Amino acid sequence: MGILKIIVTIIAIVVMGSIIMIFIKKLRKIGLMILGSLIIIFAVIWLLFFRPKQYKKTYLKDASEWKNLNIRQYADSIGFYIGAIPGGTEISDPLFCNNFNSLTPESALKMGPLFMNGSIGEYDFTHADELVDQALAKNLRVRGHTLVWGKQSDMFKNPDLRKWLETFPKEERTRQLKELTDKHIVTVLNHFRGRIKTWDCVNEPTSLYKTGEIENNVYTEYLGKDYIADALKLAHSVDSSLKLFLNEQIFDYNNKQADCFTELVRNLKKNDVPVSGIGIQSHILTKTDTAIIDLQNYIKIFTDMGLEVEITELDIRLRIFDAAKDPYDAQGRYYARLIKAAMANPMCKGVTFWGFCDDKCWIDNYPFPKPNEPYFFDSEMKPKPAFYEVYKTLKYSFESRTRK
Ligand code: GLA
Repeated sequence: MGILKIIVTIIAIVVMGSIIMIFIKKLRKIGLMILGSLIIIFAVIWLLFFRPKQYKKTYLKDASEWKNLNIRQYADSIGFYIGAIPGGTEISDPLFCNNFNSLTPESALKMGPLFMNGSIGEYDFTHADELVDQALAKNLRVRGHTLVWGKQSDMFKNPDLRKWLETFPKEERTRQLKELTDKHIVTVLNHFRGRIKTWDCVNEPTSLYKTGEIENNVYTEYLGKDYIADALKLAHSVDSSLKLFLNEQIFDYNNKQADCFTELVRNLKKNDVPVSGIGIQSHILTKTDTAIIDLQNYIKIFTDMGLEVEITELDIRLRIFDAAKDPYDAQGRYYARLIKAAMANPMCKGVTFWGFCDDKCWIDNYPFPKPNEPYFFDSEMKPKPAFYEVYKTLKYSFESRTRK
């Protein structure tokens, strides 16, 4: 049981207990006191930390001018990938394809969405093909995301592999999952052969919650921890020219999870497992996540092993900058610093944003105090300082390289 579930359970028990006490004459006063205190504590916490806020949008005065800028020209010129998921925007929209030269099709290439009406092992590539072909038509590189991801089954149940496995006798389950996983890797890679050359072969192999351990998921349970190496080897055998990435979310580059991930990669390299790159997701959700210097050092660990690195799912919540005079400006500057730090390492080949317009933001589905507003464009499609700062960073990088 996760820590959040334990806390919620304890609170629910206390609330239920105090309500029951209210109905017992002798205990009524105590029940009322407990319930009253809880209500006051929650109200204070909500007011202090969770109440949605709004910040002044001083950037609007510059927005119409920024809208005509073009990040992509600089990214193309210096050979750096600046990408995004479409997040509800048409790829052919000039705001999208003039600013990005790489696309990650969000969920369209994940296991469940590729299955035909949810039928496990039967494929319908229509939607994925549409996105991939639109991106290629606009000359965008496509990042394949992702072939094997435990949470896709355990958390998102799309597909629910455990439930599916239960339809087989116990002794057959390992073989069934192995066959399905292998078939999936081979089918998908063959389908996109020549169109997608970079894949997040395995997503989130280490545990966020039991830091220091490989994530315990449906794959480790039935196939063992070698599922990671096996997926990479099989993918490589299908097409040895592919760039195969391990993609991971890490909130603190000095913690046990970060070490566990490094150790995993070191062992794969030691055993000649064909891993070519590391994706560092970089969802920055709270103030305490990540220090840029730590990120830079962490990237270097992998590039020193001869691996490429990409920042694959960057988003930085606006609310983190609550204390700043202008949170939108502060957010923009933070984006610029982070990207500058990533680009300082020549083996760091790209940055992808996990969204485009604040209107459609995955973080809004989670109980973070708003505003999240992590992207380049606000919900009215007006460019924010984040956009302008990234533009300036790429432009500066281009100009300083051409000056040399
Ligand atoms: C993870 C996954 C992504 C996406 C985000 C949240 O980082 O790798 O595919 O699901 O979570 O939207």
